[in-house]
Amino acid sequence: MRKNIVAGNWKMNTNLQEGVALAKGVNEALKNITANCDVIIGVPFTHLAPVNDAIDSSKLGLAAENCADHKSGAYTGEVSAPMVASTGAKYVILGHSERRQYYGETSEILKTKVNLALENNLAPIFCIGEVLEERENGSYLNVVKTQIVDALFELSADDFSKIILAYEPVWAIGTGKTATAEQAEEMHAFIRGVLAEKYGQEVADNTSILYGGSCKPSNAAELFAKPNVDGGLIGGASLDVESFMGIVTAF
Ligand code: 13P
Repeated sequence: MRKNIVAGNWKMNTNLQEGVALAKGVNEALKNITANCDVIIGVPFTHLAPVNDAIDSSKLGLAAENCADHKSGAYTGEVSAPMVASTGAKYVILGHSERRQYYGETSEILKTKVNLALENNLAPIFCIGEVLEERENGSYLNVVKTQIVDALFELSADDFSKIILAYEPVWAIGTGKTATAEQAEEMHAFIRGVLAEKYGQEVADNTSILYGGSCKPSNAAELFAKPNVDGGLIGGASLDVESFMGIVTAF
């Protein structure tokens, strides 16, 4: 059966020293509890190797927040999937709405990134989600389905089973405006149905679908109680040990 997962996405926050201290804090806090979910932190590229050295990877997973759409070569400033894998990270966040919106990442680009991640044994945490206008005009289910179909449905069932999905309604990211548990459940159940149609019920049932967007200790338990919400992808609240652990322990 699918895993429950709470993953942090630090975005472009913390310098190296602050980031290592935060990772150590989460690592320490995890020693004192029995978490009912897998816990992952997504950190800036510069932090990957030192954070990997500072944490117990059997208790705390490590993710990059992106990777390049090429394996190697003359792409100044880019960081490839093999480079990410060489730091010890096991996951990579791909398709975040901020990457789609500010860096022009299309489904075509994301398809390439997903393939490179999988070739390098990185599990993609693949983000999908509609903007406010699409929520309001009622096209949100279709928008999210298209994002999934276009970037992921050429994968074999075996490769697809390595993907973690994160539904992040763009209107809920960093706005303090969380989707209601019912809105999240509606979308997550819909996504699972889309996966079942393509890959069969077993693959669909085994896929973890996380919710992201203003998730915090005060609303995590209600969201995670929904049958198709398998955890969270946490932005702001992952930058503080206490609030992140408040979400981890919501399971
Ligand atoms: P916030 O939790 O800050 O709304 O961000 C969510 C997010 O974008 C995680 O990837």
